[in-house]
Amino acid sequence: MSAITKTDVVVLGAGAAGMMCAIEAGQRGRSVVVIDHAKAPGEKIRISGGGRCNFTNLHCTPKNFISNNPHFAISALKSFTQHDFIDRVKTRGIAFHEKTLGQLFCDGSAREIIAMLTSDMREAGARLELATDITKVTQVDGGFETRTSAGTWQSRSLVVATGGKSIPKMGATGLGYELARQFGHDVTETRAGLVPFTWASNMHESWGSLSGVALDVHASCNGTAFDEAMLFTHRGLSGPAMLQVSSYWREGDTVTIDLAPGLDLASHIKAGRTTRPKASVWTVLGDVLTKRLAQQLGSEADTTPPRLADLSNSAIEEIVAGIRNFGIVPGGTEGYRTAEVTLGGVDTNQLNQKTMESRLVPGLHFIGEVMDVTGHLGGHNFQWAWSSGAAAGRSV
Ligand code: FDA
Repeated sequence: MSAITKTDVVVLGAGAAGMMCAIEAGQRGRSVVVIDHAKAPGEKIRISGGGRCNFTNLHCTPKNFISNNPHFAISALKSFTQHDFIDRVKTRGIAFHEKTLGQLFCDGSAREIIAMLTSDMREAGARLELATDITKVTQVDGGFETRTSAGTWQSRSLVVATGGKSIPKMGATGLGYELARQFGHDVTETRAGLVPFTWASNMHESWGSLSGVALDVHASCNGTAFDEAMLFTHRGLSGPAMLQVSSYWREGDTVTIDLAPGLDLASHIKAGRTTRPKASVWTVLGDVLTKRLAQQLGSEADTTPPRLADLSNSAIEEIVAGIRNFGIVPGGTEGYRTAEVTLGGVDTNQLNQKTMESRLVPGLHFIGEVMDVTGHLGGHNFQWAWSSGAAAGRSV
């Protein structure tokens, strides 16, 4: 039997949340071991933001999060804000820029964020155990015992930071949910979020041919709307607007898309009626919607008169309404294979909002994506990892 090593804190998962927690706890003098089955820490940080890591958002507020318990995130987000993380990035001399809508990205590489975190962990004395399989976690007298392929640790505190189910190819597992249930916690329904939609089978052939067409849209689903870009793909609809609404979508729901937000389409068409009376309305709309999309819409609306000159004002209003309220029922989503996040997770009603500690098992904490707190696209998910990680690290 391998020897048992005692430590104050065991953190399961060396992702964004786990590393932040280890830094904060180590800086407070706690002995910390971070265990991960991956060969390198922060793999999702490395691939995030196209390799540049959208590490936070200037405008992050609790409103940017989805949870069954919407007030839960307020305290942690207030105690460790986006500006606290930005200060750390600045102190390390990591160059960054705002891309759009408050989203902050590294100028160079996401690896700079990982290097900052691993270096801070080293300075705080936290030990990192990589390529280590977690085989069993139990509650023992005075704390927890974590058995792994590299030995057994006993700790007063146990922090579960094993993330969600998205991108299983990168090492995502359901361990955090299993541990939550093992310790008597509820886990809310989990599903893929921030994920591209796939076409319903009857749309695949015709609409899939628009692959590559991109445009700014106003997209909404179940009462929440986003103004961002949308991209047609062979498989379905993607781009930030679609990823955002996917988090609000359930099977069978309609996604409503204004394909020309802010544009006076009726005036554009009416002007075309004078200047290009022989053209079809879809040709004229090609100026604003892209030629390929306008043609596709035209082929769906086969009752439109061929000449713009023959189009009545009420017919124009009808066409404009169709473009403003373009409704589509996706066949599904690409699922965890490509989803950026997992919606749902460890029920926050059983956790302390200031410390992330279990209300059922003293010393047990859950942080980051494994919890039922999911951010919008744009750096909010990393901010939740930093904020919840810091909250736990300051309490363990
Ligand atoms: P995270 O998943 O980062 O870490 C969990 C760790 O636990 C991993 O290291 C994993 O190996 C380990 N683990 C899991 N199961 C284990 C087991 N059984 N045994 C041992 N270890 C185990 N967000 C954002 O704000 N800005 C962005 O730009 C992006 N971009 C982005 C791109 C892509 C492609 C994805 C998939 C995701 C994003 N995200 C994002 C989301 C963001 O990556 C995510 O929300 C955070 O990484 C969550 O941090 P956690 O630390 O909670 O989990």
